[in-house]
Amino acid sequence: MSEEHFKHILSHSKEYGFVFQSSEIYDGLAAVYDYGQNGVALKNNIREYWWKSMVQLHENIVGIDAAIFMHPKTWKASGHVDGFNDPMIDNKDSKKRYRADVLIEEHIEKYVQKIEKEVAKGKKRFGEDFDEEQFRTTNPNVQRNAKKVKEINSKLREAMDDGDLDDLKELIEELGIADPISGSKNWTDVRQFNLMYSTQMSATDGENEIYLRPETAQGIFVNYLNVQKTGRMKLPFGIAQTGKAFRNEIVARQFIMRMKEFEQMEMQFFVQPGSEMEWFKYWKEERMKWHKNLGIEESKYRYHDHVKLAHYANAAVDIEFQFPFGFKEVEGIHSRTDFDLSQHQEFSGKKLQYFDPEKNQNYVPYVVETSIGLDRMFLVLMSNSLQHEDLGDGQSRTLLRLPAALAPFQCAILPLTKKDGLAEMGLKIFNELKLDFNCYYEDKDSIGKRYRRQDAIGTPICITVDHDSLDNDDVTIRFRDSMEQKRVKISELSTIIAREVSMKELLRKLN
Ligand code: GAP
Repeated sequence: MSEEHFKHILSHSKEYGFVFQSSEIYDGLAAVYDYGQNGVALKNNIREYWWKSMVQLHENIVGIDAAIFMHPKTWKASGHVDGFNDPMIDNKDSKKRYRADVLIEEHIEKYVQKIEKEVAKGKKRFGEDFDEEQFRTTNPNVQRNAKKVKEINSKLREAMDDGDLDDLKELIEELGIADPISGSKNWTDVRQFNLMYSTQMSATDGENEIYLRPETAQGIFVNYLNVQKTGRMKLPFGIAQTGKAFRNEIVARQFIMRMKEFEQMEMQFFVQPGSEMEWFKYWKEERMKWHKNLGIEESKYRYHDHVKLAHYANAAVDIEFQFPFGFKEVEGIHSRTDFDLSQHQEFSGKKLQYFDPEKNQNYVPYVVETSIGLDRMFLVLMSNSLQHEDLGDGQSRTLLRLPAALAPFQCAILPLTKKDGLAEMGLKIFNELKLDFNCYYEDKDSIGKRYRRQDAIGTPICITVDHDSLDNDDVTIRFRDSMEQKRVKISELSTIIAREVSMKELLRKLN
């Protein structure tokens, strides 16, 4: 995958109504995006796949929908007011603000690109005899650049882990990093920058400063006892939630990978203290299963275990996907101990305990959380599915090989022509199938063009109504991936589509 592929995802997302820049007619708003007609359908399907896999498939997980606004003390208790920061640096000449660590990462990427260029040159030179692994371990230019990458990475990690802002500034200067826009090296010191957005809420005693939630998790923690009591939940049990979160990220050029307004799908699993490692291992494996169930090549996923842990965690792992710009986090699984509930207990003065009837004891449960970004998952699917296929004879097609159940439309009904009663028959089929599936109907343009458009938005099955359909009550169905076509009875359509593309079949494989 490459920069080229990333650009293709961006242009395809816009051209086919998946993702638009927010307020585009006003030149857009940095790192904020809108989902178009096909994007929202794909996003809803991803959310549904997640929600059903959590809430519907587990007898001990329930869902909630907490408000975005929360009492300001929530964020004091959770540690976000004091510690939810990124290191930022300003360029004194251009007045532009950057994340200090990202500037260094982008510098590292230049060496990575040099390595890849050298490898590509080698491939071209040696053709079929090229042994990539040997080349990477012996070529002096590759070796020199790889050493540089390792050295800078290790200094960056150390400075970040220690929260040493002076070291970050020193590294930027040592590497001679210039402002990507102006070329100036005239930098301010590195400072911590809180990522929460705040606004004012009127109250009887004046205005209160409140925050837009930077994660959905706290809405679950503060409702732990409400749900446990009203749902008569017994440990272990989970609370799931999807919803918007807001972070004032200092970013550029990352599309929906890192946004200021994004959506999370989080589940907090409350367990007996002492059993958290067992559950951490369980959810680490379960969540990877959920990803792989989508048919994505195994090698594109990997775990990244956290070595240095946040003060409240006793284990943490990321599930990373190989995006066009490298392996990056899609989801985090964290064993958060009793940190959050204990903090809320302390700050609210209300007990948040569980009475364990077997132990005849009250205690604060421990929590294992799974947290995935919906927009990032959307980007996983776009990155993995967008393909350009050479069909021979100078013909090609662009297609989105999305998991069939998640595609914006499960099928398209395409009468060959509007005339001769074909449109009426097509609409009759549409009106029947639409009760179970998201269907597309179109009776304009050549059938070839219509097939290409459906390929480009990922529709797994096209149903063509022709003149023979009128006499025989049958239609041609065409499969997106193989382009195979076959004749089937109209009465069989519902069963065939359900077997090929339904969410139920996708969930069954997780069961
Ligand atoms: N409650 C835990 C938590 O919020 P996190 O690692 O900060 O953990 C979880 O976020 C997930 O949310 C990430 O793995 C990522 O998929 C997504 N995410 C975080 N920040 C994001 C952003 N600015 N834009 C898009 N997705 C983001």
